[in-house]
Amino acid sequence: MILVTGAAGYIGSHLALKLLETGYDVVIFDNLSTGHIEIVDKLKSLNLKGRVVDFIKGDLKNIQEIENVFKKYKFEAIFHFAAFSIVSESAKNPSIYWENNFLGTKNLLDAMKKFNINKIVFSSTAATYGEPNYVPIDENHPQRPINAYGNTKLALEFLMDDYSKAYGIRSARLRYFNVIGADKFQRTGEWHETETHLVPNILKSLNTKGKTFNIFGNTYNTKDGTPVRDYIDIEDLIDAHIKAFEYLKKGGKTDYFNLGTKKGNTVLEVLKTAEIVTGRKIKYEIKEKREGDPAILIADNKKAKEILNWQPEKTLKEGIKSAYNWERANFL
Ligand code: UFG
Repeated sequence: MILVTGAAGYIGSHLALKLLETGYDVVIFDNLSTGHIEIVDKLKSLNLKGRVVDFIKGDLKNIQEIENVFKKYKFEAIFHFAAFSIVSESAKNPSIYWENNFLGTKNLLDAMKKFNINKIVFSSTAATYGEPNYVPIDENHPQRPINAYGNTKLALEFLMDDYSKAYGIRSARLRYFNVIGADKFQRTGEWHETETHLVPNILKSLNTKGKTFNIFGNTYNTKDGTPVRDYIDIEDLIDAHIKAFEYLKKGGKTDYFNLGTKKGNTVLEVLKTAEIVTGRKIKYEIKEKREGDPAILIADNKKAKEILNWQPEKTLKEGIKSAYNWERANFL
């Protein structure tokens, strides 16, 4: 039995799906503040390999609620996705980010300690690096976040180091770069009430009622003036989580890994690729730079390759294609 927090959300739901397909029973713990019950219902209805999916609506900020789950089930490991993750929101309202992300995770780890669960795979982020000194960014790059979201995730990396040393709770902290794409059968996908991300925003602009797509800045020091990001497909990302879990099962020590492709694309390149995938012309307007957007973020992924034996396979085009299929099936 595996606990997946935040599995009503984008990345957590893909992971829960993968666990079910692999043959694990899954408990979903989610407060539905940003996740969707429809996604949970979908996962339950699939009846994959006859596997059990239990959904518990609860909030990590309340330690009693999470301890009750640990009383009911004995977990082999935890995958922890539940978090707030909108950078601009975190800058405006750090209090809710510290409470939700930091306190919520601390409660989860304290419950793990109390119930003797010693493995956790945790969603960290490239935002812990801040403005990079060099790219590709390896795991030894200094971590100096430039927003509250990145600060909460970095603080949690430190907390997990301490809990590992003192209590033997081993963690794989996975620092995501820019995740795109959706399940190939559209059983789940990216669904945010407030959408801030590039690929879904490009695709949503295809809706006749959609807003014109905005490019935030074209005067960066990059080949076409728009920012460069490392876009990693959700299936590759999920595969890395499974490998991180296997690593911990084999006794792997507490560690952290970048998850990216080591390739960068500008916003305009992503837009052009979306035009090829969709066969549609995508209109855009150039707007002001978004505060705190670094010019270039690219991952060095050597460590995950060497230690987790992980290799991303999907192209940018494939990621945009699966995202498009999901958008068309649900929103366009
Ligand atoms: N962008 C646009 N228009 C949009 C949306 C995005 O031009 O409508 C641009 C952004 O300016 C940026 C790039 O597209 O240059 C990617 O933006 P996203 O919002 O998709 O992703 P970010 O790189 O800002 O953020 C992602 C994650 C965060 C995480 C961060 C780490 O979404 O959770 O990477 O750097 F913190």
